[in-house]
Amino acid sequence: QKAVTVNTLRKMKAEGEKFVTVALYDAPMAAMAKKCGVQVLLVGDSLGMTVLGYDDTIPVTMEHMIYHVEAVRRGNNKSLIMGDMPFMSYATTEQAFANATRIMQAGAHMVKLEGGEWVADTVRQLTQRGIPVCGHLGLTPQSVNKLGGFRVQGRNDKQAKQMLRDAKLLDEAGADLLVLECVPSALAAEITAAVSMPTIGIGAGKETDAQVLVINDILGLTEQPPKFSKNFLVEAGDIPSSLLKYSDDVKNGVFPAPEHCFD
Ligand code: KIV
Ligand code: NA
Repeated sequence: QKAVTVNTLRKMKAEGEKFVTVALYDAPMAAMAKKCGVQVLLVGDSLGMTVLGYDDTIPVTMEHMIYHVEAVRRGNNKSLIMGDMPFMSYATTEQAFANATRIMQAGAHMVKLEGGEWVADTVRQLTQRGIPVCGHLGLTPQSVNKLGGFRVQGRNDKQAKQMLRDAKLLDEAGADLLVLECVPSALAAEITAAVSMPTIGIGAGKETDAQVLVINDILGLTEQPPKFSKNFLVEAGDIPSSLLKYSDDVKNGVFPAPEHCFD
């Protein structure tokens, strides 16, 4: 089993092979994901909600992110590990340099940050310096207060055009991956076809190059699970079987089903 790199993921996109991403936060889950062949691990700032009990991701700090990236890296030396840049840690390009460095040195292979056009120059500068970047468009939870809640994005024509434009700008800036969260399936498909980097969907239909779910949702730990998620533990019975079922269902195009998607 060879370590997953950005090249592995580009090759999979080119060959039309779906890959699997799980947002998780600790060493034993990371080890289980390695056993199950999960390609990408996201140490998401969702940990503010899923692990730390906050209402949103705004309170998450660099120290939280580093603590969890280090734990995940200790548990898994095969999957590609992405670490989220927390709220306001990349408000300027200079801040992004300093904070992305810390996340990479904690053991991540890539950083993820939210936003489009305004962050494209930062993405260019990070990638030029050897730090791969995953973009994140659609529902960007760090902007929950500006968006007025956790809601589907890109439903009107103006928003859809802007999202497509943002995606192309991130692609041109050298981003290596793009998360699309809570986006109408048709728009996510259009963006996926328009960019060279692989796209990872969550509530973005089945046409993205990959899917991501949060481990808490996969295992039924979330009190009010979002529409796009699925509790795989109910059918699968134990944790490894749940991860394997999720992984198989993504690869075979069974997950997401229409009830997990938006239009
Ligand atoms: O923080 C996170 O887990 C994420 C994913 C849901 C994409 O950003
Ligand atoms: Na996140």
